[in-house]
Amino acid sequence: MIELEIVPDHESASTRVAGWIVEQVRRKSASVLGLATGGTPERAYELLVEKVQAGHLSFSDVTTFNLDEYVGLSPEHPQSYHAYMRSRLFDPAGFNLEQTHLPDGMAADLQEAGQQYEALIAASGGIDLQLLGLGANGHIGFNEPGATEASRTRVVDLAGETIDANARFFASAEEVPRLALTMGIATILEARAIVLIATGESKAEAVERAVRGPVTPDMPASFLQRHPHVTFVVDEAAASLL
Ligand code: GLP
Repeated sequence: MIELEIVPDHESASTRVAGWIVEQVRRKSASVLGLATGGTPERAYELLVEKVQAGHLSFSDVTTFNLDEYVGLSPEHPQSYHAYMRSRLFDPAGFNLEQTHLPDGMAADLQEAGQQYEALIAASGGIDLQLLGLGANGHIGFNEPGATEASRTRVVDLAGETIDANARFFASAEEVPRLALTMGIATILEARAIVLIATGESKAEAVERAVRGPVTPDMPASFLQRHPHVTFVVDEAAASLL
């Protein structure tokens, strides 16, 4: 069952999602958070940084696991998700990098890196709250259409539409990596609670199919219907087809 919170705009969605994270960390200081990248959660991270810098929140006991990373981009590459997380959240919010984890897209053996990532998540006690964005094609993490419910952290091919959508962050579409290492659908569904943020008209069709459509690998976010504690925070534009 997907709970829906429909809010007016991106700013209010960001405030709501930041609030979920604040509540989680206040309730359990040693929370394990699953984190997402992309344009959508950037403002929520900014709001969290403001709270930390104002002395109203501390991440000092928190452990984080990100959903995904491009294959072949080093952590120093400005478009890597390592760099994204360091600049938008980890550095300004005072994380010790040992608290944070992202898949190793530079690993010589990517399959083994995926298995190690799963083992690290399990050893942490599991993810308390997983934050998700949503691809316009319905992807969560980099689980593109076709991903199965049993999938775990693994190497995936990026869909053409994802390469095009993410080209805006690179000099050109040719520079977008073709492969990524991503948590699987099964990994994501093991989180104790999930909050997905989607804003803007470009996400409206995916939101409608994820919430109302059949559960199918054609729409990876539809697997979230099988999770007992999942909330979609969507703005009116993203909710316009519901
Ligand atoms: C990216 C990420 C996803 C993200 C999605 C939407 O490629 N791998 O985790 O949720 O696509 O991105 P955006 O928020 O920029 O629309």
